[in-house]
Amino acid sequence: MHNFSYWAQAFSKHFSEQHFPAQPANLYEPCNYFLAIGGKRVRPVLCLMANDLFDELHPSAWQVATAIELFHNFTLVHDDIMDAATLRRGLQTVHTKYNVNTAILGGDVMLIKAYEYLAKVQPAVLPAILHLFNTTATEVCEGQQLDVDFEAEQEVSLESYIRMITLKTSVLLAASLEMGAMLGGTSEGNRRHLYEFGKNLGIAFQIQDDYLDAFGDPASFGKEVGGDIKQNKKTFLWIHTQAQVNAEQQKLWQELQTRKDANKIAEVLELYSATGADVWCKELQDTYYQKAMQHLEAVAVVNARKQHLIEVAQLLMNRTN
Ligand code: IPE
Ligand code: IPE
Ligand code: MG
Ligand code: MG
Ligand code: MG
Repeated sequence: MHNFSYWAQAFSKHFSEQHFPAQPANLYEPCNYFLAIGGKRVRPVLCLMANDLFDELHPSAWQVATAIELFHNFTLVHDDIMDAATLRRGLQTVHTKYNVNTAILGGDVMLIKAYEYLAKVQPAVLPAILHLFNTTATEVCEGQQLDVDFEAEQEVSLESYIRMITLKTSVLLAASLEMGAMLGGTSEGNRRHLYEFGKNLGIAFQIQDDYLDAFGDPASFGKEVGGDIKQNKKTFLWIHTQAQVNAEQQKLWQELQTRKDANKIAEVLELYSATGADVWCKELQDTYYQKAMQHLEAVAVVNARKQHLIEVAQLLMNRTN
């Protein structure tokens, strides 16, 4: 049994191999640039840790973990185009450093490479892994579409927001854990509980992401603080403020929805704080964190073996990037 940082290091070593040929350089150099700037590697590590929870690493575990991280990086490259984001992991986004066409194609080829790794998975586990991978990848696209659709809406319920972030973010964390559990050869029941652990943890993870996007420290966040506000993203902060602004604040709040000037971010942040949306974050996050923990408790292995996963969950709740 190993902890997060052990697996993150081991995975990074595997992942640092060249995934792409040299030519055409205008396609592959941007891909290599993006993959090399790192990231937390949370999803592949969760997959490896879930395998490790039940058994020795499966011979196909590195391939599955690599496919997951490539898929995740593909979603980020395209997400940054969709969100008009200029900064990622502390460096320029691919479409900013190169151009949009390169970022579209680079993302595409990362996705294809992910399936190339999946195709190498042992036949005994391949159908189940592929089914879950495909279901999840489709759901991520659905979540991303809802995220974009909500930008133009003036009323989004908390329930719709939770559904949207479940699809765009949490199902991939959930599936990463379940794929690891499959590789570890555990029961259907344990697989389901690990999936639900990841799903609820993923919701809490995206809540933290939305909080950091508004209130994060630019020095550590690695993305542009206020990006969601600029794009009129419907986060839990927006939903809370929409419901809580008083009559006096209402006019400014309405105006801000259509404003594009440089002061918009600061003024929205003030309203977020004035309505207590920032404080509500911890409460909302904790609801999902507790649900996640209940599912982890229900996994039928001795508690001592779960300790490293509990540590990861806590790490993710307190992350600053
Ligand atoms: C970013 O994911 C996208 C979200 C779902 C919020 P991460 O925060 O895991 O990104 P990296 O891979 O560590 O950069
Ligand atoms: C992104 O959500 C989810 C996916 C990439 C699928 P965000 O748009 O909030 O992620 P960041 O903040 O850009 O990492
Ligand atoms: Mg984004
Ligand atoms: Mg997005
Ligand atoms: Mg975000």
